[in-house]
Amino acid sequence: MTQRILVTGAAGGLATLVRPLLACPGRVLRLLDIAPIPAPGPAEETVQASVADLDALRTACTQVDAVVHLGGLSTEHPGEQILDVNIKRHLLGAGGGEARRGTASAAREQQPRGRLPP
Ligand SMILES: NC(=O)c1ccc[n+]([C@@H]2O[C@H](COP(=O)([O-])OP(=O)(O)OC[C@H]3O[C@@H](n4cnc5c(N)ncnc54)[C@H](O)[C@@H]3O)[C@@H](O)[C@H]2O)c1
Repeated sequence: MTQRILVTGAAGGLATLVRPLLACPGRVLRLLDIAPIPAPGPAEETVQASVADLDALRTACTQVDAVVHLGGLSTEHPGEQILDVNIKRHLLGAGGGEARRGTASAAREQQPRGRLPP
């Protein structure tokens, strides 16, 4: 069975490092970012959306085994944007917390909730 991992913030620095490490046969990476994702590979799906868009996140979480949550504002931004993107727990509301194998996060809105599959 194909395994699917959702990576948020997939165009960012950490995700760019992590993507090749997560890739393996039988696994699809679903890459979500508000910015365009450069050079997706054959086993990568792209979703251009905000982690603050609950409907888009719900769709992105469909059929997902695990979530690596790296999407967020890592530099200075207006308080309201920080609140919406980094503080509100949109991902959990969208079902990311119910991914079949768990959610790991470096983004500031939540703590790691599970282990990634080997
Ligand atoms: N780099 C570090 O050492 C470090 C350490 C601790 C925590 N973090 C956190 O880990 C996360 C990733 O870090 P990074 O260094 O890759 O940051 P980064 O800024 O390079 O990448 C963040 C990505 O999130 C995307 N993003 C921003 N707002 C978004 C939104 N509303 N919806 C979807 N995507 C959005 C950006 O487009 C960007 O591609 C950040 O939340 C950061 O605060 C990073």
